[in-house]
Amino acid sequence: MSTKLDSLLWVFVLLYSIAEISSKFEFTNIKCTSLDTNFADFEYCFLKSVNRTYKYMSLKVNLFKTPITKIKVNGALFKRFSGYRPFMYNVTVDACRFLKDTASNPVAGYLFNLFKKYSNMNHTCPYDNDLVLEKLPIDFVNQQATKVLPFPEGDYLLESNWIAYDINRAVVKVYGTIS
Ligand SMILES: *[C@@H]1O[C@H](CO)[C@@H](O)[C@H](O)[C@H]1NC(C)=O
Ligand SMILES: *[C@@H]1O[C@H](CO)[C@@H](O)[C@H](O)[C@H]1NC(C)=O
Ligand SMILES: *[C@@H]1O[C@H](CO)[C@@H](O)[C@H](O)[C@H]1NC(C)=O
Repeated sequence: MSTKLDSLLWVFVLLYSIAEISSKFEFTNIKCTSLDTNFADFEYCFLKSVNRTYKYMSLKVNLFKTPITKIKVNGALFKRFSGYRPFMYNVTVDACRFLKDTASNPVAGYLFNLFKKYSNMNHTCPYDNDLVLEKLPIDFVNQQATKVLPFPEGDYLLESNWIAYDINRAVVKVYGTIS
């Protein structure tokens, strides 16, 4: 219930801010950590600058206990003050349920839309194969994010925890700056 309400409020804030705020968002770093290398491990995970205008993000996760039929993703936003502190947003999504109907959760849907074209994750559960995000153009993400971000200037961290069968298996941290 409250998650649904949260999402609706959030979308309202996003829509409102399209008109109100024009800020610039830029990715600065990505860090991937496996918490259980018997379950999953990162073959690679990086941001690459090809030249001034073309940067991309790639990552590949090897899955060792397929098929995976139960996975939750927790996403939490942090803002840097003296250190990174939790900021406004902390939700957990049942990924298998979400993938059956990506319109069911507007915020998760928005984030998923940012990268699904560049990944092999655009299908319903189970997950049988290694997960790949291939050359997601940073420019594309920056533009999408800049359009809707309702946040003040500063350094941000989006931390995602990948929880399979109720055990946290991996952490992906994406860092960015709004100026
Ligand atoms: C940057 O690299 C991309 C891909 O190699 C290329 O298409 C583009 O023309 C390059 N841009 C500049 C300004 O060199
Ligand atoms: C987010 O919420 C979960 C569940 O309430 C909690 O365990 C976790 O510590 C929270 N994360 C942050 C960054 O506050
Ligand atoms: C996967 O992509 C296709 C084509 O873009 C789309 O029709 C379908 O709804 C997507 N499935 C999911 C689970 O997002």
